[in-house]
Amino acid sequence: MQQKLRKAFKQQLLYKKIKMEKAGKEKFKVTPWEVSGKVDYNRLIKEFGTERISENMLKGIEKLAGDLHFLLRRKIFFSHRDLNWLFKEYEKGNKFFLYTGRGPSGKTHIGHLVPWILTKWFQDKFNCNLYFQFTDDEKFLFNPELSLKDTKKLAYENALDVIAIGFDAKRTKFIMDTENIKKLYPLALKVAKKLTFSTVKAVFGFTNETNVGSIFFTTIQSAPCFFEDKPCLIPLAIDQDAHFRITRDIAPKLGLRKPALVHSIFLPGLTGSAKMSSSIPGDALFTTDTPKQVEKKVKKYAFSGGQPTVAEHRKKGGNPDIDISYQWLKILFEPDDKKLQKIYNDYKSGKLLTSELKEILIEKVKAFLKKHQVAREKAKKQLDKFILKD
Ligand code: TRP
Repeated sequence: MQQKLRKAFKQQLLYKKIKMEKAGKEKFKVTPWEVSGKVDYNRLIKEFGTERISENMLKGIEKLAGDLHFLLRRKIFFSHRDLNWLFKEYEKGNKFFLYTGRGPSGKTHIGHLVPWILTKWFQDKFNCNLYFQFTDDEKFLFNPELSLKDTKKLAYENALDVIAIGFDAKRTKFIMDTENIKKLYPLALKVAKKLTFSTVKAVFGFTNETNVGSIFFTTIQSAPCFFEDKPCLIPLAIDQDAHFRITRDIAPKLGLRKPALVHSIFLPGLTGSAKMSSSIPGDALFTTDTPKQVEKKVKKYAFSGGQPTVAEHRKKGGNPDIDISYQWLKILFEPDDKKLQKIYNDYKSGKLLTSELKEILIEKVKAFLKKHQVAREKAKKQLDKFILKD
């Protein structure tokens, strides 16, 4: 009897799941501290109330910049807030500055690089100052395992990866939250005075049991938006949007400008997770991985859109849209559209096998990391120039 009941219950769950999938309502979660499930980016645009980046906007940006980065061209950055306004101001001669950041909770993996790469492009094309925030305070507050000493050490490790992206030392300032608090605090306080507990509860899901540091934290992440008396542009992964929804609500109440945002999708993890995660075994590729590790990880873990046998693959072809090797080439490692299209076609037709596709990716990643690691070593000597002295 019990077994029967259990079976019926399972069946019911299955029906529910199928129904949800059919309605496109599969469960997923995107917050600054947790991403899970299969992320539906179109639904995020609706739920967060952001705007899709249109072809027209891209044309406008291309006209101003002279060219268009493939991260924009390929819609890896797919959503925005107030970009139209930002570029209108720019055309009127009102230049903008850039702001982004990193929460130092572990080693840098290649997924973290996506917003940084576009940030550098903006800096080069539009001649912008950049403030880069390292939230050693945040990662201490939100992670029971990490001490302040840990997060500070990680911040300095991560900073080497940021420098390695190639930012201009003259126009880039790093903010280490616990060290540069003097600069952040007056602005954080202004935001804090307008921000209620009920708002952060609603936006972040905090409860009465949440530590008070976490409740206050979003004000610290808001502060750099107001470092200059100019429009501010923030390239970021979409999970960070919630902080700036709050900032944008409060800015006018302080007589300040709302920051403009440009949101990216996540780089999927090797095993097929929606957002690369250092805590899932085999999911992340770190910027310090050796060529051997790259080869081993891709061969062992990269989720494949191929068929189970070579014969079947030749006949039916693979699915590049779910294949992680292809996705990584598209998001990070193959800037050439023609080459990428050929890989797509050949994989889809079955001409290109999964093992061959992985080989293409491995070579690209190795070359990328070789260059990155040389720059990362050099960065150790440059670090001091980047840190904000206040
Ligand atoms: N909280 C972000 C993280 O955990 C770090 C961060 C600080 C950030 N300021 C930012 C990210 C501005 C994007 C934009 O990664």
